[in-house]
Amino acid sequence: MLHSDANIIKQVEYNTMSVSMAGVCNGISICNRFVLEELGHHDKVENLPENNALTGLTSGLLEAWKIYGDPTAVILIIVEDITYNICDQRFHEFELKRLNSRVKSVRKTLTDIYQQGCLNEHNELIVDDIVVSVVYFRSAYTPDQIPSKNEWDARLLIERSQAIKCPSIQYHLAGTKKVQQALTKPGILERFLSEPKKIAAVKEIFTGLYGLDFDESGDQTIQMALNDPEKFVLKPQREGGGNNIYGQEVREFMLKLKDSKERTAWILMERIHPPISTGYIIRAGAIGLPQLSEMVSELGIFGVIIGDFQKILVNRQVGHMLRTKKSTDNEGGVAAGFGALDTPYLIDVN
Ligand SMILES: Nc1ncnc2c1ncn2[C@@H]1O[C@H](COP(=O)(O)OP(=O)(O)OP(=O)(O)O)[C@@H](O)[C@H]1O
Ligand SMILES: [Mg+2]
Repeated sequence: MLHSDANIIKQVEYNTMSVSMAGVCNGISICNRFVLEELGHHDKVENLPENNALTGLTSGLLEAWKIYGDPTAVILIIVEDITYNICDQRFHEFELKRLNSRVKSVRKTLTDIYQQGCLNEHNELIVDDIVVSVVYFRSAYTPDQIPSKNEWDARLLIERSQAIKCPSIQYHLAGTKKVQQALTKPGILERFLSEPKKIAAVKEIFTGLYGLDFDESGDQTIQMALNDPEKFVLKPQREGGGNNIYGQEVREFMLKLKDSKERTAWILMERIHPPISTGYIIRAGAIGLPQLSEMVSELGIFGVIIGDFQKILVNRQVGHMLRTKKSTDNEGGVAAGFGALDTPYLIDVN
């Protein structure tokens, strides 16, 4: 998000698990171009940047498939029991086929893997007698998606296999809010980056992130939140939207949390205030014409990273996603029904 006070971009978070919407982003950009054309603004269409997020992400999966080196192996997509984001997921499958028609992808739940999966003598993951080269998780990031020990066992089986996981357990954990907070502590980033310029550039996008451990700094964090709750967002180790605490509720929640062991599972983050614009959100099933409203936007950057414990083989940016929501809404989740997909409009500020 662009932080209005300083006019610099600040990082809300990063996701390493089940990153979605690349499949439907491309369509939004086509739709917004169409609207501009229809309104006669042909000269403005060039200000909408190209977005090939879907091709970018799926080409990452294909590169992993190639690295595995078995042309008969499949890409396994781990899905929920009921998938609400089916269109987005399916577009990934269609794009995989379009890019390489010989690559097969299969969709399975963790429960399926528990029932049908095993490791062979080379620790390869076998499902329905076929070797799996890449496991792409579109599930297993919320507790209800791992309802019993069977699904945990399936997750462990996948992790122990030779298959390339998107993400591996290390990258899954790196995406947690706790790790994002720990990275902002003095001296930590320096353990992973050596170039001072890079370190400074990364630090610039951090906003204040604070832990709630049972120590002096944890107690200070609590005091800060109690004194000025509107300045912060309180976050648990959860994904999928709708779990954070905002505004005055931060104070109430902190009072309940402060003496409980659970407090260490939360982090406190400074609230970012993006600039306000006006626009319309168009929703399926909405009654009446869309209303002109005050909006804020947040930009997501998609990336592909492939590596092992020794070296990074691929690391590149592959596309973007813009989400816009009413300025009065706290969260911007599209599937959760708050935000809407949007297209950046580039302007020359000089
Ligand atoms: N520090 C902040 N300042 C302003 N808004 C925030 C902040 N942190 C989170 N938000 C809003 O809440 C939304 C959800 O927060 P966050 O991304 O941390 O949760 P999540 O459950 O991991 O979401 P997702 O499922 O999209 O990954 C963000 O997309 C943003 O709109
Ligand atoms: Mg997230």
